[in-house]
Amino acid sequence: MNPTIAPAVEVPIKDYRASLRFWHWANALLISLQLITILFQKVIVNSRSAVPEFQQAMSKNNITITTKQGGAFAHIISERIWDWHIYFGWALVALWVLRLGLQLTGPSELRFSARLMEILRRYRLAPPADKGAAGKVLFAKTTYALFYIFITIMVATGLIMIYEDTAFFGPMHHTAEEIHNVTMYLIMGFIAVHVVGVVWAEIKEDHGLVSRMVGGKGPNVKA
Ligand code: HEM
Repeated sequence: MNPTIAPAVEVPIKDYRASLRFWHWANALLISLQLITILFQKVIVNSRSAVPEFQQAMSKNNITITTKQGGAFAHIISERIWDWHIYFGWALVALWVLRLGLQLTGPSELRFSARLMEILRRYRLAPPADKGAAGKVLFAKTTYALFYIFITIMVATGLIMIYEDTAFFGPMHHTAEEIHNVTMYLIMGFIAVHVVGVVWAEIKEDHGLVSRMVGGKGPNVKA
């Protein structure tokens, strides 16, 4: 074997720097909170569907309200939930900027593109017997590339919706909303694949992966 070529299936940098770990868990928390706001907005509270209940409750006190008046109440409730969605959205924008900063100015172990290129190189150089395992690592990394695209779309379309009252973003609002909506399902798909993949790797071949993502480099890990 050529000693200058690194083993094919080893991830180039197996520990995760504090900045990456912070980014990962803060992002996971904020995306979960965003999904919870949508769960409340669209399913649990679903204020628009409560208008007939408002009308019924008022009629017990001999007060009649029109559907439009009931809709105004519903709007107040849903705006409160959207306010929280937008606060969390701004925090996600900040994390996106942080990730971009690490990508553009950080050392290679913090740059996603450098890690991806290294894994691609190792996949290409892998002998046939190691191709399968190297391919799995490459597949995992490729899903992360998709995730970065999805989160970029979420941030961009979210900002367009925040500034929908401006002349520039106004005309894009409807399209941005549709894309934002569809991308949510893609992110949910990514989360499902990611969690199953990480648990699988932790159990089968990369023990300590999760604890390294929580606490950094483990005692048995080569950089
Ligand atoms: C990854 C996390 C996110 C998820 C899962 C998510 C999901 C959603 C969904 C499903 C909607 C409803 C769209 C519709 O009504 O068709 C929505 C609306 C919205 N989102 Fe997000 N979003 C996320 C991130 C963001 C970010 C980062 C921002 C801001 C930069 C943002 C800002 C908004 C705004 C302004 C609206 C419209 C609220 C309104 O109608 O008043 N979202 N989001």
